[in-house]
Formats: sequence, C-alpha cells, structure tokens
Amino acid sequence: MRRGADVDAALRALARLMAAFHARAGRGPRIAAEGGREALRARWLANTAELRLHEGTVLPAPTAGAIDRLVTRFLDGRGPLFAERIDDERIVDGHGDLIAADVFCLDDGPRVLDCLEFDDRLRFVDALDDVAFLAMDLERLGRPDLGERFLDSYVEFSGDPAPASLRHHYIAYRAGVRAKVGCIRHAQGDPAAGADAAHYAAIAVRHLRAGAPRLVLVGGLPGTGKSTLSGALADRFGAVVLSSDRIRKELAGIDPTRPAGAAFGQGIYAPERTEELYAELLHRAEQLLGRGESVVLDASWTAAPRRATAAELARRTSSELLQLECRADAGTTARRIAARHGDPSDATVPVATLMATVADPWPDAVPIDTAGPVGDALERTTALWRDAPGRPAGAVLR
Ligand SMILES: Nc1ncnc2c1ncn2[C@@H]1O[C@H](COP(=O)(O)OP(=O)(O)O)[C@@H](O)[C@H]1O
Ligand SMILES: [Mg+2]
Repeated sequence: MRRGADVDAALRALARLMAAFHARAGRGPRIAAEGGREALRARWLANTAELRLHEGTVLPAPTAGAIDRLVTRFLDGRGPLFAERIDDERIVDGHGDLIAADVFCLDDGPRVLDCLEFDDRLRFVDALDDVAFLAMDLERLGRPDLGERFLDSYVEFSGDPAPASLRHHYIAYRAGVRAKVGCIRHAQGDPAAGADAAHYAAIAVRHLRAGAPRLVLVGGLPGTGKSTLSGALADRFGAVVLSSDRIRKELAGIDPTRPAGAAFGQGIYAPERTEELYAELLHRAEQLLGRGESVVLDASWTAAPRRATAAELARRTSSELLQLECRADAGTTARRIAARHGDPSDATVPVATLMATVADPWPDAVPIDTAGPVGDALERTTALWRDAPGRPAGAVLR
C-alpha cells in the first residue's frame, strides 16, 4: 500500500476468502451475545471514556462527546437492525483484528494471520464489523476508495444486505478502537502515536456523521421539482425514496403511471385517502429507519400537522430530520405541469392553485429554489444533507 502497489485483485481475493471464512465460522447464542446492540454500546462507551482522558493533549476537546452523541443516536434508533443481524446469524467467531499489516499477498492468494486471541469475546463480531476493520485501515493509509471496493466485494460474496449506515458505523467503531490504542501508546511514551490517534478519531467522526440515518421531507406544490430532487438526492446518498403519488395509487390498486385525475379533494384525492396515504408513508419510513436506511419522502407536505407527525417519527427513531420546501414561480411550475407525460402525479394547474391557497406556511423548512438548473438545487441539498447531524467543532474533522 505504502509503495502504491496495485492491490485491487488481492483485495478482491481477500474479500472472497473472508466471506468463505465467515460462512463456516462458529455461530451461536454465546457468540451472538457479543454482537448485539447493547454489547456494542458498552464497548463504544469504554473506548470513548478512554478518549476523554486524552482530550486537550492528543485529541481536540469535543471528540469523545461528539462520538458518544452520534453513537447513541445510531444505536437508540436501530433496534430492529441489530435484532435482524442476530436473527440472520451475522454474528460470527471471526478474526477480530483484520488490519493491512496482517494480510500477506502471495502468488497463490492472500493469507491472513494473527487473529485476535487474548480475549475470545472480542473476536465474536458482526462479520461486517470484522471486514470493516480492514476498510478503515485502508482509509487510514490514504485509500478510502480501496476500502469501499473491498467492502463492496465482500458484500457481493457474502450476500450481506446491510444498509450503508451499518458499514459506516462499523468503520467508525474500528477507528474508535484504534484511536483508543493510539492514546494509550502515546501515554506510555510513544509520541508518534498521538497523531495517529487524532487521525483515527477524525475517521470515526466522519463515518458516524455520514452514517447517521436521515429522514428527509421534500415538499412543495406540484411542478416545483420534488420528485426530481428526491430521486437525485437518493441516488447520491443511497437513500430510499417513498413517493406519495406512487403509494397513493398503489393503495388504490392502480398502476402508478395511469392517470386518475379528479376534482380537487375528490376520488383518490379525497381527504380520508390522503390521511391514509401519509400514515402509510410514515409507517414505511419507520420500518426503514429502524433498519438503518435513510428515507426521502416525496410529498407536498402542505399540512402542518402531518409535518409534525413526521418530526415526531424522526425523534422516535433518533434520525436526522431535514425539511426542504421546493419552490419555483407559478409560470415555471405551470409549464412543467403541462409538459408531463406518464408522471404518477395527476395535479393540474388549477389543482396546484387550490393547493397553494390551503397550504400552511412552513417556517421550519429550508426553501430550495428549483427555477434554476437541477445541479444547483442538488448541490444545495447535498450540503444540507451532509450537515444534518449538526456541525461538529472544526478540529474534530481535520
Ligand atoms: N432545479 C430543478 N429542480 C427540480 N426539477 C427541475 C429543476 N429544473 C427543471 N426541473 C424539471 O422540472 C420538472 C419538475 O417536476 P417534478 O420533479 O415532477 O416536480 P414535482 O414532483 O414537484 O411535481 C422536471 O421535469 C424537472 O426535470
Ligand atoms: Mg412528483
């Protein structure tokens, strides 16, 4: 790695080797107990307690608190995800210490040495956590792209359906472990270990922030670009889009692109149907958030009480809430509505006009002007997405 050797093929072979190793690794209740949410929380807390002792010397001051906060939110809201990992027997007697220095690339394939032996329980890990260790180490060595590709290959060979957020979480966890070790070594008189510890801690914070599940409300009147923006945002961050227009028709048992236009508030647009629709949107969002997926809800969100219910869902699932209101002038939206073909939306210009008169003001939303190029609106929302977990103190992110 340091010499810049091409290790792509070796990493792919290694991903395959690890998937095969995990497939036949020991499993069972005693092993699974170490990979549960509360066991993970306890190990995190032990690590950050150590990090806290080195703030102001080795680490910038808010590091441990920032990590604790992000970890707590992730774990609190992800009960179903961690329960599923155990039910799916993803917790294995693994390697426990898969760092680059322990992998030997030979002509006939890679060999991995030096599994963790001083404490069995630390080797009982989620298989994804096991391989995330190497992904983290590759990132530390300056090649996060290789780390990502390695995990992609591993997922391909293992069929692991984990959400992106869990990958981020385990990479962060492994960086946290190494940050702690770096702090201890520094305290024992190894000056170089201090800079390493700070580097590892920054990796941990970065991944915890990236992996925080988001609940994004993309609202606005017809033709303001909600679906376009929702799709682009979801593509960029691997989130799931739930579209009100599609689900409304799904609930009514009709094809999403089949027109079902009706007078304002009539037919499938009757108020009871709309209530049902929002309840279903939030129900599906809750399932997804609990499993660590970020969710983009593409709906008009014109009624304040429904937004309040969504905000409550974000609180209940410890997810980052982002409220975006798409806006464009009436001429632009009318032109867009007129130009639609095969869109799941049935809204016409008169419907849009009526909606505007009944829409509640949305002071908590960030207005997104979509009259300009899509790329501009996407850049703006990308920045908002990245900042959703709150702005960290600059020093932690170095
Ligand atoms: N900045 C922009 N943001 C979003 N959509 C835009 C933008 N500029 C042009 N458009 C176009 O406007 C239309 C918006 O429609 P759509 O996303 O279906 O709106 P809505 O879902 O709010 O009804 C699309 O054809 C899209 O390509
Ligand atoms: Mg739409």
